[in-house]
Amino acid sequence: MPVRVATAFAPATVGNVGVGFDILGHAFGVIGDRVRAERSEAPGVRIRAITGVTEPLPLEPARNTAGQAVLSLLAQSPVPFGIELTIEKGIPLGSGLGGSAASAVAAAVAANALLDAPLRAEELLPHAIAGEAVASGARHADNVAPALLGGLVLTVGIDHPRVRQIPVPPAIRCVLLHPHMFLSTRDARGVLNRLVELSDVVWQTAHLAGFLAGCYANDLALLREAFEDVLIEPQRAKLIPGFPAAKRAARGAGALGCSISGAGPSVFAWCEEGTAAAVRDAMLGAFQGEGLACDHWIAPIGGDGARIVECR
Ligand code: HSE
Repeated sequence: MPVRVATAFAPATVGNVGVGFDILGHAFGVIGDRVRAERSEAPGVRIRAITGVTEPLPLEPARNTAGQAVLSLLAQSPVPFGIELTIEKGIPLGSGLGGSAASAVAAAVAANALLDAPLRAEELLPHAIAGEAVASGARHADNVAPALLGGLVLTVGIDHPRVRQIPVPPAIRCVLLHPHMFLSTRDARGVLNRLVELSDVVWQTAHLAGFLAGCYANDLALLREAFEDVLIEPQRAKLIPGFPAAKRAARGAGALGCSISGAGPSVFAWCEEGTAAAVRDAMLGAFQGEGLACDHWIAPIGGDGARIVECR
């Protein structure tokens, strides 16, 4: 029996995780986006509605991350019917929580369920990457890969991405704060220098390697030492009032590390479970000092990736 309607949920994500610019991210399933895909008689892809937004998003499929992900999927797997999408945004726009990626992933997963021969989850990754690039202006997988697959995910390659889920020490929690301001990913990428110092590359390489080794070895002391982005964070810190103070406060309250989530303005800290509430309160206090209210969450690292929540 062919599937006529499918709805998928895809979680928010923390990109870069500090040390892994554009290649390392983890799922954060407390919030996410939903996309409903429905067969239609009219050919092509159409976006019927987008809910949960305060600013309008493009309804033209090629200019919308969900629409473009489905266009890319159908270019590989043509179908003899059209597809209508309904997008329900649960992730605030311009928050650094991977909203563009979640919509692209949820759309690809929902549309894939309508196919007579659905692709495997990993085969959807290039289509989700193509979708997210519409919003960010660049192809990178640190949000789409964990939104699709769940967990903490390292992606190597773009045209033929290879993904690896990295084990995370079970005692660690992620404290995530979303200060109420808008930051465009495109703009936050635009401020980045194209050239970097060799010494910074050496430190960042050591930190990424130490971070991954710390995860595999359950070595919290190594994680704490390695949890420092010397390349990207210093260039973006000035875009987020309160971030430097929040980072100092998080470290002071015992966090293993604290950085900018994706392109910001959300910020996150990894910490042991017992210190999570104190780290959150310390970070909240820093943003209060700037007059910025925040949404905030504490959750284990990773969690499930995208899933079908309705299929008929
Ligand atoms: N890795 C990306 C960035 C995530 O930091 O710009 C935002 O899409």
